[in-house]
Amino acid sequence: MTPTKLQAMHDALAKDEDGFWLDQARSRLDWIEEPNEAGDWSFDANDFHIRWFADGKLNLSANCIDRHLDTRGGQTAIVFEGDEPGEGYELSYRDLHAEVCRFANVLKSRGVAKGDRVTIYMPMIPEAAFAMLACARIGAVHSVVFGGFSPDSLAGRIRDCESSVLVTADGGRRGGKSIPLKANADTALESCPDVHSVILVRRTGDDVPVVEGRDVWWHDARESVDADCPPEPMAAEDPLFILYTSGSTGKPKGVLHTTGGYLLWVTFTYRLLFGPEEGQDVAEDLFWCTADVGWITGHSYVVYGPLSNGARTVMFDGVPNYPDPGRFWETSHRLGVSVFYTAPTAIRALMREGDDWVTQHDRSQLRLLGTVGEPINPEAWKWYSTVVGEGRCPVVDTWWQTETGGTMIAPVPGAVETKPGSATRPLPGVRPQLVDAEGGELDGAAEGNLCLTASWPGQMRTVYGDHERFFQTYFSTYPGRYFTGDGCRRDEDGYYWITGRVDDVINVSGHRMGTAEVESALVAHPNVAEAAVVGMPHEIKGQGIYAYVTLNADAAESDELREELRQWVRKEIGPIATPDALQFAPALPKTRSGKIMRRILRKIAEGQPDQVGDVSTLADPAVVEDLKKNALV
Ligand code: PRX
Repeated sequence: MTPTKLQAMHDALAKDEDGFWLDQARSRLDWIEEPNEAGDWSFDANDFHIRWFADGKLNLSANCIDRHLDTRGGQTAIVFEGDEPGEGYELSYRDLHAEVCRFANVLKSRGVAKGDRVTIYMPMIPEAAFAMLACARIGAVHSVVFGGFSPDSLAGRIRDCESSVLVTADGGRRGGKSIPLKANADTALESCPDVHSVILVRRTGDDVPVVEGRDVWWHDARESVDADCPPEPMAAEDPLFILYTSGSTGKPKGVLHTTGGYLLWVTFTYRLLFGPEEGQDVAEDLFWCTADVGWITGHSYVVYGPLSNGARTVMFDGVPNYPDPGRFWETSHRLGVSVFYTAPTAIRALMREGDDWVTQHDRSQLRLLGTVGEPINPEAWKWYSTVVGEGRCPVVDTWWQTETGGTMIAPVPGAVETKPGSATRPLPGVRPQLVDAEGGELDGAAEGNLCLTASWPGQMRTVYGDHERFFQTYFSTYPGRYFTGDGCRRDEDGYYWITGRVDDVINVSGHRMGTAEVESALVAHPNVAEAAVVGMPHEIKGQGIYAYVTLNADAAESDELREELRQWVRKEIGPIATPDALQFAPALPKTRSGKIMRRILRKIAEGQPDQVGDVSTLADPAVVEDLKKNALV
């Protein structure tokens, strides 16, 4: 896009915001009933509400599939690439239509109706997308749980949203290793008595137990249902999906997105950032977003954004370094990927392996590179740009969150100049504000906490089952504004540089982990009296997990116990939560009122023990000396 065209968008928005969004909604989506209302929202406590296109009706799966059938029925929709290079196949929009309809009919045959919740615990295979789109087709609300989560984490999420149906697979294969999805699901379901049906997809062919009456094989069930299923008309504000994400306190929250606004936001941002020039066919590109559908990036930019636009999207069920660190570039070339979107953590890991893994593969078909999930350090940005992109591909660093539905701050290619390490400027309709600790607005070049002062169509609408928590978490810290939880610097050119979370959330390899969750897993161990968890700098992961653990009086510190505790957390939550460092502490630094002073723990974990600051308010300042002496960094 040219700078002039982007400016014209900003101008149109400034002149008539409602008109702009109604235009976008009507031209980019297919409606059963076109909306006449755009945004209707207030972030104020006494009138708190968020609605977009509320009088419109549409169906998301019809937008992602049916509307393309006339013009693109035979065109590829999904390119599947399995764990082993070359293990895969392609599906056309027509194939996708038939599979999704069948999946929807199988769900219906198990009693799933509009508004019901369906949990999806799957590898990165097309059937995961079928299940998501099938839910959207019949108006069921999906909750995808990342396949790397433990049985306990899965069970908690199933119970929280009261799903009675689970979609899973016999197993998964990642990096040559097996993931026992069905076994995990069976363990989880022991504590989920309300789940009456499991739709089981065959992926590995592993021998798995099948519970009579509860479990049905997808490949069997699909034979006995119709390959057509009419899409259910949905109000724009009807729930589309729930996705659990970690916050600074308590259990993961069920972030709820609705149909019309979310779909417009992912359709709009996909086209703006990753599509070709306006007027050219989106299907000229092959788009590869390496995220798993278990995360928001997979929802928005593997499945919904690309398919809504009629694009060709890759689903990859492997890892960046299997069978070797050249995998991304070998596969990109073999498949003909032109737009590639991944996380900084993968870029940093591959950068370490040396340039040869990249340069031995032809990358001339690549035209654009994107990143997401965490701040990208300028060194990794430059390597991505020059070594992978041969200096010809724009690098699009996209800042957003599960809560925002799609990208918020990013350089629109062709229109916004990049700076290595900056997500650059807000997209049309995004209104960032930097505030100080008291909520005072900071002007010009400044550093502070990042808020958004206006709603946008893709904004989450509630925390499932707890609307009060939604308000308290995001709108109470700085009244009248949405608080992102991120710190940010704005430079003299108005460019935004996200500095990372300012709350008790750790960003591990682009995945959010709440310190409270890891702490509660640790204290569930019989030897642990108390635990406090903070982030630490990590060369590859961006942030690692640093745990301080106080043992019960009858337990002895040992390397074996340290390893046992790390494995315990891994088992309780999942591999991504495994502490990188675990320090035994005879006591934690607490104020006289018993509050743990995390600032001190963070400084020690960051390797800056001399910067712990004032410790005079601690109940026992001597505790800090012991922590410093035994620090692991
Ligand atoms: O801290 C920001 C970081 O990831 C958080 C959101 O995490 P999640 O909801 O899991 O969504 C990740 C994928 C959208 C943000 O609060 N983050 C995400 N993208 C960036 C980023 N930090 C810096 N730069 C980014 N491009």
